[in-house]
Formats: sequence, structure tokens, C-alpha cells
Amino acid sequence: MREEGRLSSDVVIEIKDLSYTYRLTEKEALKDINLEVRRGEVVGIVGPTGAGKTTLCMTINGLIPHSITGGKLEGEVKVLGMNTKEHTLPEIARKVGMVFQDPESQIFGLTVLEDVVFLPENLGLPEEEIERRLKWALNAVRLNGYEERFPYQLSGGEKQRLAIASLLSGLPEILILDEPTSELDPIGKMEVFDVLERLKKEMKMTLIIVEHNTEQLSRICDRIVVLDKGQIVLAGNPKEVFSEVRFLQRIGVRPPQTAELGELLKNTEYFNEYDHPLTVKDAVQRLLRIFQKRRPKKARATISPSGGQKPGNGETVIEAENLWYIYESESGERKIALKNINLKIRRGDFIALIGHNGSGKTTLAKNFVGLLRPTKGKVLIYGEDASTMSVKDIARKIGYCFQNPDHQIFSKTVKEEIM
Ligand SMILES: Nc1ncnc2c1ncn2[C@@H]1O[C@H](COP(=O)(O)OP(=O)(O)OP(=O)(O)O)[C@@H](O)[C@H]1O
Ligand SMILES: [Mg+2]
Repeated sequence: MREEGRLSSDVVIEIKDLSYTYRLTEKEALKDINLEVRRGEVVGIVGPTGAGKTTLCMTINGLIPHSITGGKLEGEVKVLGMNTKEHTLPEIARKVGMVFQDPESQIFGLTVLEDVVFLPENLGLPEEEIERRLKWALNAVRLNGYEERFPYQLSGGEKQRLAIASLLSGLPEILILDEPTSELDPIGKMEVFDVLERLKKEMKMTLIIVEHNTEQLSRICDRIVVLDKGQIVLAGNPKEVFSEVRFLQRIGVRPPQTAELGELLKNTEYFNEYDHPLTVKDAVQRLLRIFQKRRPKKARATISPSGGQKPGNGETVIEAENLWYIYESESGERKIALKNINLKIRRGDFIALIGHNGSGKTTLAKNFVGLLRPTKGKVLIYGEDASTMSVKDIARKIGYCFQNPDHQIFSKTVKEEIM
């Protein structure tokens, strides 16, 4: 059953010293490509525009040299043991399916059913085998029940899944997908990648995926091959390749954003080189570990109605005791700004008062320095009841820096102000 020259090993694609130049062009679209793909392997191909990704795919499925003619092909491409130069396009296409970017261009049937049965019917298979493959292929891409739909009634993601199903029904051994999700919205992208993941896990299908979305690629690929100017410039598992954040950015490939985050945090004790997180989950787990290790020592003072702090050692400088402050307008309207605040601030404390607008931060600070006097409760400064002290007395002990600097600068020059 196996074709001539088929190796006993599991190598299904063997590319040796491949170079390709399109007809009437000078520049090599592919240069010295060497690549082996094993059965069941999922290989992602990335690279900037014009790098040669599509050209490489077309040399694997035989479109080059059989359909796109007149170019110069050097080296050798063997697919399932078939040298693509020596086999016809139909021979190769039976084993290697290719899905393109544009979902519209690859659907020929009038209905979903017609499209999926096209290949098995062409192979002249018996009715029940066609039926069996139809069911299986539609189930694989989760389009069962869609048999009678017209293609225009499908979403972009569904159309791409239909294109995949229509290839699956021909039982290909290798599936090549050239930017299958670039025209799809995020949900459509995810649906297609879910299907690809399924083909990998449940059918152990060999997949070659050209894709700009490196997050999705790192989710399912065993290996990533980076092309630039027709050459393979980097290859390895997703972690190895996507950790080369700077290099990829330089040639115009966007690594997963979590890898970019890893790059920024690299060389800290928590992030190592070549170990960038590739998924949000991985990034979150690592950041949580950092946060847990770095959790600050218990704040020495917090503000809460109950005081919320443990006694420290330093001498108490300012103390609020059951402090209330209520603003009263001329019309007699009352607005409670501070409600039963108990708080001690000790020598050396460095305390941030935080709260949303209007929560009472300034009111509390003004009560500390005597610019406002408590409606109820007390403020103690060095243990002394502030109500017995003048603003001037307090100012000798507590400096207050206003929100608006214009309110506190009285002198004409900086020097005068400081003196
Ligand atoms: N039919 C053609 N005739 C001549 N040159 C071509 C042809 N198709 C592609 N090229 C050239 O070959 C090189 C590789 O193109 P290719 O389409 O393989 O790149 P790609 O990596 O798929 O890019 P993209 O990300 O834009 O799809 C480019 O320089 C391109 O201009
Ligand atoms: Mg392309």
C-alpha cells in the first residue's frame, strides 16, 4: 500500500536543499530549505509577509511544480515517499489536503452535503462508504446537522470548518492550512483551532499550519518553523522559538503577548531566559508566585472605622478617637464626611490615605491639623486634645501639604518662602 521509496521511519514530509524561484523572477522565494515532518506532528509556520510560507506549502502539496509552472525548483520534496516532481497533482492531492485563507474560494458544493461528498464520490466509493465518511467528517468539525445548509448560510468559521470537512472526507494523511483563520473573527478563529486540536488529539493527523496568531499556534504545535526571506531562520518547540522575542519582533513576527511580558520581566529572579510563558494561564500562575513571595509585610496602619491596626512600638503622634465630621451648609443640609474614625499614627509611619473621590480623605487630614474641628469625638496630638490647641500650635507639630500648591505659597520667591 505504501508508495515507492517510503521510509520505514515515520517521516512523512522530507524536504532536502529546496530552493524555488517563480517564473520571470530573479529572487529565490525559497532558499536551501531542509525540513522533516513526522507522522502526527503539528508544525506551525510563521514569518513576515513574503517570507515564502505559502510557497513552501505549495511545494508540499504539489501545486508547485504541477499547477504553478515555469519556476525553477531545486532540491527535493518527498511527501509520503512520493517525490513531488515525479508524481501527478491528483496523486499527491489525495494524500495532502490544503485549506486556504479565503473560505469562499474553496467551497464548490451547492450545499454542505454536496461539498463534503465531492471527494469520496470522485473516488467512486460505494454509497455506504460515502455516507460513513460524510457523517465522520461533519462530526469531526462539529457541523453535523448542517447537511442541507447553503454555504452562504454559514459563518466564516463554519465555512472554514466545512472546507476542512470536505478534505477530511477524502481521508488525507496530511493537512496543510495556509492562514485558515486570518479572515475570521476571534470566535471563528477559536472554533477552527478547536477543530485542529481535535484532529491532532483524536486522529493524530499530521498538520502544517501557517498562522500569524502565535498564541493559537503555541497551543497546539509540536514545532514552530520561522521563515524569513525564503529561509528557515529558526525552528524548535514553541517555547524555544517564542522565547526569542526580540529576534521575532525584529523580523516582523509577533510572539504571544505573554512571551513579550516574559521578555520584559526576564533576568529577574522569577523569569528566566528561554522560559517565557506562552499562555495567559501560565503567565498568571507565575505572577501569582511572585506576588505571594513579595507580599508586603502587614501594613502598620490602615484606616477603618475600627482602627484596623495592631499597636506598634513608636510613640503615637496623631490619634483620632471616635471622630465624626459633618459638613453643614447654610441651608442646614448635613453631609456626614467622617463616621466614627479610630486611628493612630505613630512616629515614623508612612501612611497613604486612599479612597474614591469624596470619601473624606481631605476632611480627615484637615481635622488632624485643626483646619476643621471634629463634630464629635477627638483628635489627639502627642496625646494632647487638639481642641485645646490653636491651628498655629498644631502647625508647629504637623506640616500640611495641600492638594493645590497655590493655596499654601505666600511668598514671592522660593527663598523667601523657605526662610
Ligand atoms: N506567483 C508568483 N509569482 C512571482 N512571485 C511570487 C508569486 N507568489 C509569490 N511570489 C513571491 O515569492 C515570495 C514569497 O511569497 P509567499 O506568498 O510565499 O510569502 P508568504 O510568506 O506566504 O507571505 P504572506 O504572509 O503575505 O502570505 C515573495 O517575494 C513573493 O513576492
Ligand atoms: Mg501566504
